[in-house]
Amino acid sequence: MSDLAGRFRELWDELAPVGRAGSGGYLRYAFTEPELWLRDWFREQAARRGMPVAEDGNGNLFAWWGDPDAGDAVLTGSHFDSVPHGGAYDGPLGIVSAFLAVDELRAAGIAPVRPVAVAAFVEEEGARFGVPCLGSRLLTGEIAVDRAAELRDAAGVSFAEALGDRPAGADPALLGRFAAFVELHVEQGRALVDRAAPVAVASAIWPHGRWRFDFHGEANHAGTTRMADRRDPMLTYAFTVLAANKEARLRDAHATVGRVSVEPNATNAIPARVTGWLDARAAEPETLHGLVEAVRAKAAERARRDGTELACTQESATPLVAFDGGLADRLAALLDAPVLPTGAGHDAGVLAAHLPTAMLFVRNPSGVSHSPAESATDADCAAGVVALARVLEELACR
Ligand code: GLV
Ligand code: MN
Ligand code: MN
Ligand code: MN
Repeated sequence: MSDLAGRFRELWDELAPVGRAGSGGYLRYAFTEPELWLRDWFREQAARRGMPVAEDGNGNLFAWWGDPDAGDAVLTGSHFDSVPHGGAYDGPLGIVSAFLAVDELRAAGIAPVRPVAVAAFVEEEGARFGVPCLGSRLLTGEIAVDRAAELRDAAGVSFAEALGDRPAGADPALLGRFAAFVELHVEQGRALVDRAAPVAVASAIWPHGRWRFDFHGEANHAGTTRMADRRDPMLTYAFTVLAANKEARLRDAHATVGRVSVEPNATNAIPARVTGWLDARAAEPETLHGLVEAVRAKAAERARRDGTELACTQESATPLVAFDGGLADRLAALLDAPVLPTGAGHDAGVLAAHLPTAMLFVRNPSGVSHSPAESATDADCAAGVVALARVLEELACR
């Protein structure tokens, strides 16, 4: 094992037990105990490196190498939070790699000419409060403070309560300090395995969003209600899931219903209400729009047949992100890395509308993400750190 791979493993092992469930996956939701532990760990890592930490009033942390007031800073970093039973790498890899990249540069006697900041963005997955990239959306003003403050988790706790204050919202002065953002992230599919490369540069993020489908019917007895008399929202829901799958396949797009809630959720009762959350993504916005409209129309038609009622609400939207082409080409040439698009959302996608932004992906041999099976070898993680260090050197140290 190379020295760097060893150092990566040492630091990585500090995080490994934090928020790990019996499934082997992680439960690291924003402002819950494991995530608070990770935030403290971030502060401690920054302190060890003499990097002052500032919070932006939205829950995002920034550790500075160099003078924060100097301007033209290069921002890197990612997020700590996970989806339910998520993988170890999605998020934390970008933060750990950022600290190690700073170490690499320092060990080589390289100092920043422009400051470098390492960020930990809050609630990237939207797993607790429902809106992904909440921290970066607040920082950039892409979500209204009132709406963000009132987002609630399953227990009814609001984001403002979890944060301990009303979020500060857009901070143009802070954003204005950054000349570029580069987020390193584990690859979330098989693209790099198939290309035999440890690191890639991102070209684009597919447009995507979340839609909540509420199906209302009539709760009734499972044993005594004749089949013909039922108004069963589970049927409409089930049909809608199949329709989403079919419509996505027709368009080479992606549709997922990964979350469902049923009331009253009893084996021997026809449900009164079923809510399913549709996550839909496509390469082009028109395709995404067509997909969601087709699913909506089919669900509405089926609701008429089932005697149920449907309400559909869009809960989040992320437009097509084309990363800065000049920056992507420059980094791909610097690293001799392939360039690829992704269907996954990232804080980099939100920040890309505000400053030149790029992403580096580190190979994931399992090709699986948002699952405990997500993986990366220590050697590839070390290659990711080297790549990020070279990028920071190129952007901040020349
Ligand atoms: C977050 O990782 C997403 O793509 O939903
Ligand atoms: Mn994720
Ligand atoms: Mn992520
Ligand atoms: Mn993501």
